[in-house]
Amino acid sequence: MKVVGQAIPHESAREHVTGRALYTDDLWPRYPQTLHAWPVQAPHAHARVLRLEPAPAYRVPGVVRVLTAQEVPGLNDAGIKGDEPLFPAEVMYHGQAVAWVLAETEEAARLGAAQVVVEYEPLPAILTIQEAIAQGSFQGATLQVRRGDLEQGFGASARVLSGALYLGGQEHFYLETQASLAQLDETGHILVHSSTQHPSETQEVVAQVLGLPRSQVTVQCIRMGGGFGGKEVQANPYAAVAALGAYLTRRPVRVRLSRLLDITLTGKRHPFYARWKVGCSEEGRLLALQIELFSDGGWSQDLSEPVLARALCHIDNAYFIPHLEATGRVCKTHKTSQTAFRGFGGPQGMVFIEEILTQVAQTLGLPPEVVRERNFYGPSDDPQTCTTHYGQEIKDVERIRLIWNELKSSAELERRRQEVALFNAQNPHRKRGLAITPVKFGISFNFTTYNQAGALVLVYQDGSVQVNHGGTEMGQGLYTKIQQIAAEALGVPLEAIRLMPTRTDKVPNTSATAASTGADLNGAAVKDACEKIKARLAGVAAQRFGVNPADVVFEDGQVWSIWKPDERLAFAEVVRAAYAQRVQLFADGFYRTPGLHWDKTRMQGKPFHYFAYGAAVSEVEVDGFTGQYALRRVDILHDVGDSLSPLVDLGQVEGGFIQGLGWLTLEDLRWDAEGRVATRSASTYKLPSFSELPPVFNAKLLPKATETGVVYGSKAVGEPPLMLAISVREALRDAVAAFGAGGYVELASPATPEAVYWAIEQVRQGALVSGD
Ligand code: MTE
Ligand code: MOS
Repeated sequence: MKVVGQAIPHESAREHVTGRALYTDDLWPRYPQTLHAWPVQAPHAHARVLRLEPAPAYRVPGVVRVLTAQEVPGLNDAGIKGDEPLFPAEVMYHGQAVAWVLAETEEAARLGAAQVVVEYEPLPAILTIQEAIAQGSFQGATLQVRRGDLEQGFGASARVLSGALYLGGQEHFYLETQASLAQLDETGHILVHSSTQHPSETQEVVAQVLGLPRSQVTVQCIRMGGGFGGKEVQANPYAAVAALGAYLTRRPVRVRLSRLLDITLTGKRHPFYARWKVGCSEEGRLLALQIELFSDGGWSQDLSEPVLARALCHIDNAYFIPHLEATGRVCKTHKTSQTAFRGFGGPQGMVFIEEILTQVAQTLGLPPEVVRERNFYGPSDDPQTCTTHYGQEIKDVERIRLIWNELKSSAELERRRQEVALFNAQNPHRKRGLAITPVKFGISFNFTTYNQAGALVLVYQDGSVQVNHGGTEMGQGLYTKIQQIAAEALGVPLEAIRLMPTRTDKVPNTSATAASTGADLNGAAVKDACEKIKARLAGVAAQRFGVNPADVVFEDGQVWSIWKPDERLAFAEVVRAAYAQRVQLFADGFYRTPGLHWDKTRMQGKPFHYFAYGAAVSEVEVDGFTGQYALRRVDILHDVGDSLSPLVDLGQVEGGFIQGLGWLTLEDLRWDAEGRVATRSASTYKLPSFSELPPVFNAKLLPKATETGVVYGSKAVGEPPLMLAISVREALRDAVAAFGAGGYVELASPATPEAVYWAIEQVRQGALVSGD
């Protein structure tokens, strides 16, 4: 029986729900004499540090050490671009840590931090994208991608429209905040437990701050309670603080951010602002698009440039735009350094193009879904329409239409359109809205180098197996999939596979578990290692059976030859025989995604191995008096290739959708005039919960969807479903439109009840004016 593709629960599901699953911050009680850390946070968005006086902190009982820039033996920088001082001389955002206090208890560290005297010279701060644009405050290069000839495209357009939209950021709100625990051993080697999506980069940063070779630093991640991109680079400073503390005090040091610290210190999804000019035909076919994107990168570069690149690469979503010029800039502001967040700029790019298509549809008085399908890439026999603006040919382009049409019929879109129209005709104060939107999301890191992975598989004499790989588990089910892959590849039952925590001393130079590539990359590396071992074991078994190694079958812990299927050996017996014959029982595995190339300056090439596709239909009902709404029904059809683990994948589809819904409808991240994050807890920052679940939620995986060239025919699933939630935003707009007399409905993002209310007001006024 196949292990891959079986619908099994997450490998830690029981531990998660019973509280037995360990996270980084559960470990410190096992380390005697652990010190606790607390930051000294700056009360200005932008300021020069004139004086920093640690002495008063030492008067607080229990305070052991105050960490400042003077104490750093290596480089005072917690990033890899050289612009993230761990102990800054210039404060770049409100709440930035200027020093850290170590103490016997967390309470003592907090009290000690309050005693550190810091004198600041406040400086003018830039807090919004608009201010940054006005003052020319940018970081990194201007990115631009283009195709065709804008002049020609606009010249041929029957209509030319312009518009602009601001998209808010999003707090990761992983349940487990940033956490690290560092320990120095007697040889001067540092072990750092870190809730990091990128243990190798955390290792690099720790080594850099301590001035040590990387071989002196090991980083381990047991699992994370959610990362969502927020721990792709932003785990590094806290690991560095813990490591520095351990290095200086020779005691274990724990850093664990409270929710308040986490929200005020760490970066979020990038807010974006876009302005565009779009040309189309009377039928709503896009002919030309000129669009400028501005992201709010916050104080340091972080991942802002690659996030912007992905936004520009997804400005097409599923649509062919013959003449296009998309330009992007990262604004430098005095805010937390905005960072990776599920979708990595893709969602922002896609919301803009969906906005533009709705603008076109509503301006022309056409149903938005008709305009959307008129603009799809393909058909596949028209090669010109199957290439993206960055020059990549779109594999399986027909899947866009296949999914769209199947979903339209399974969700009964046409019938429900009539139902909604009837409801709206009968109800002056409540309106329903319906929308379908597609997703096409490129899979692979744009940065080609990152598309590699390693594994180390160890088989013991009793036939039990340890699997090491470079991927980290953050709840997304990577370990479950890896366990299934290893069991399948070795022909042993799931229980025979023991997954080891991710450590840099087992598999070196790993990539971040990000870009949804965790299973594609690490799964393929693990399969490679398992197959090497299996080939050696097949040789041993073949001798025993007197057959060709190619005729030996491994399945479910048993080994036999196709010539005598009844004569079976246990896997462990073959392993013992191999050991006796001095056959190597462990192997490394490696994988590099083939065929990728990317010209970063021209933004042309083949950055993605393939695309993940999906579509969603959402239906909402809006109250005209308050703008409050309910999500009535959601239908999703999503392409994960041949699912490695269907329960895990469905969980990713549903969870991703709900997280996207949070971003687009609830999560209203605000900064005040001083540059403080104003929404700093779950009481002021509305997260999606059970109550946002639609009563009817039909999420399905596309059947018969084998993706050749990816491990066991699967496709990545981690990020793409988030963008299915754009259908909710569009359904809300559809409902708002029903309060008026037609035309483009502008709707702010997030589309909170308040934003929906103001959109209804605008629409009503428009209706009054046109009715006069
Ligand atoms: N699912 C859960 N439960 N928790 C997470 O933190 N992160 C998402 C996604 N799904 C995340 C998640 C993000 S941002 C990415 S890139 C992928 O998982 C990373 O894991 P993968 O590459 O193994 O899919
Ligand atoms: Mo995901 S944003 O690539 O960690």
